[in-house]
Amino acid sequence: MGRLVLGSSGWLRGHVTRSVIASGRLCALLLVVGGLGGCPDGPGTVGTSVCLRCHDGRLAPDRSGFVMSAHLGIGCETCHGPGLMHVRNGGRGGLFIRALENDGDVYALCRKCHEAETKGHMESGHGASGAVACKDCHDVHGGDRTVARYTDNSLCLECHGPYGFATDAEVRAHTHHSVDPAGTGASRCAACHMVPLERLNPFDGPHSHTMRPVPPIASNVAAEEGVTPTPANSCSGIAGCHDGGVATAPVFDVELREHNELLQILYDTRYGTVGEG
Ligand code: HEC
Ligand code: HEC
Ligand code: HEC
Ligand code: HEC
Ligand code: HEC
Ligand code: HEC
Repeated sequence: MGRLVLGSSGWLRGHVTRSVIASGRLCALLLVVGGLGGCPDGPGTVGTSVCLRCHDGRLAPDRSGFVMSAHLGIGCETCHGPGLMHVRNGGRGGLFIRALENDGDVYALCRKCHEAETKGHMESGHGASGAVACKDCHDVHGGDRTVARYTDNSLCLECHGPYGFATDAEVRAHTHHSVDPAGTGASRCAACHMVPLERLNPFDGPHSHTMRPVPPIASNVAAEEGVTPTPANSCSGIAGCHDGGVATAPVFDVELREHNELLQILYDTRYGTVGEG
């Protein structure tokens, strides 16, 4: 592969040439170890392994964590565009590469592969107000997981803590549940606010990004419209909430109309006033 890169860009010199040769080896290694796209795959592309030669924090912003990212398989250039010109110019000033600085460009990009999440986010208060973008909750370059911690509520509380969620007592007053987000999942923000859109895939998603809780009756409405299996709501149909996953929590079956009707009465009593005034 190193030969292929050099063959098509023999004018590369000095540091870059050595980088390209060395990263040709890295590229092959990435392919062997990860079975993934570390190599050039179109006109004007150089492959992820070449990008990482400079983007290691010494010459350019550090993206070395990318080798652990869920996006390794798609590679840098799928998002940033072909990088040959950028590399040829030593990356100078960040020229000749798509920087993805504005939200509109980012959403158009994410949407290509994550339609449901992007659409939901754009409809949410987060997206519509322009106050919160994907990068505030996800690091597309990063670590072993691009989903920041949420099971302990720390992600949501980073911003919402000071506005009515500073203590367990305040959280309890909002959720009408005890507080144990990391254990039983009780009072976990994402459980009520980010319901899985496909019930058979409660962990992998897609999860709703509108942040709107789904009232139990909505499951009956969807079932009447022919959606099978009956989609989850904020109370049940989510593994670990009222589906029998938690020994102490009453069990409701999302497939049963009367269960959802009963839950809706409880929901109205508890949450009918949330968000008013
Ligand atoms: C020869 C070293 C080098 C290589 C190889 C390299 N870059 Fe860069 N890159 C840089 C430098 C230097 C900057 C500017 C850093 C700065 O201004 O702080 C930069 C900036 C960037 C930026 C930010 C642009 C902006 O306007 O903020 C992106 C995005 C980027 N590179 C992506 C890539 C991708 C994708 C690849 C692989 C196709 C790559 N780089 C390969 C050196 C490199
Ligand atoms: C899934 C799409 C995606 C992939 C893959 C991706 N990036 Fe990015 N990159 C983005 C987005 C979006 C931004 C804008 C900031 C943000 O949302 O994090 C960005 C921003 C950047 C920046 C500028 C950030 C700064 O600190 O100024 C650099 C540099 C960069 N990416 C380099 C890379 C390199 C190198 C790779 C591969 C190792 C890569 N990116 C892979 C989407 C991607
Ligand atoms: C070319 C397709 C593509 C684009 C564009 C893309 N992604 Fe992804 N994304 C993927 C793939 C493939 C996965 C891994 C899927 C899986 O693990 O099921 C993924 C996974 C994710 C995950 C879950 C990661 C995890 O560790 O579980 C998040 C969050 C994510 N992407 C956010 C983004 C954001 C934000 C953008 C826009 C800046 C974006 N993606 C653009 C293909 C893409
Ligand atoms: C980076 C900061 C930030 C993070 C992280 C964050 N939020 Fe928000 N959230 C905001 C801001 C700012 C608003 C107000 C947006 C507006 O002006 O409508 C908001 C609004 C909301 C709203 C009201 C939405 C509406 O349509 O009016 C809900 C619900 C919400 N957030 C839930 C969550 C949940 C759940 C999490 C964790 C998964 C979370 N937020 C993480 C900043 C954040
Ligand atoms: C307020 C924080 C927040 C914002 C903003 C946000 N996400 Fe997420 N996202 C999450 C959380 C939390 C999860 C994990 C949900 C779960 O597993 O219960 C997630 C999961 C995902 C996943 C993994 C599949 C899934 O749906 O569970 C993808 C892909 C994703 N988000 C894409 C995006 C994209 C694209 C954007 C911007 C258009 C975005 N997200 C904005 C918090 C956020
Ligand atoms: C047991 C379910 C549940 C849990 C857990 C939950 N919420 Fe809510 N939340 C709701 C309901 C229901 C509403 C009202 C939605 C509506 O008006 O349609 C709401 C509304 C909100 C709003 C909108 C502001 C308002 O008062 O109208 C914000 C912000 C919010 N929640 C943040 C959070 C945060 C942060 C957490 C985690 C600490 C959290 N929620 C946990 C059910 C829950």
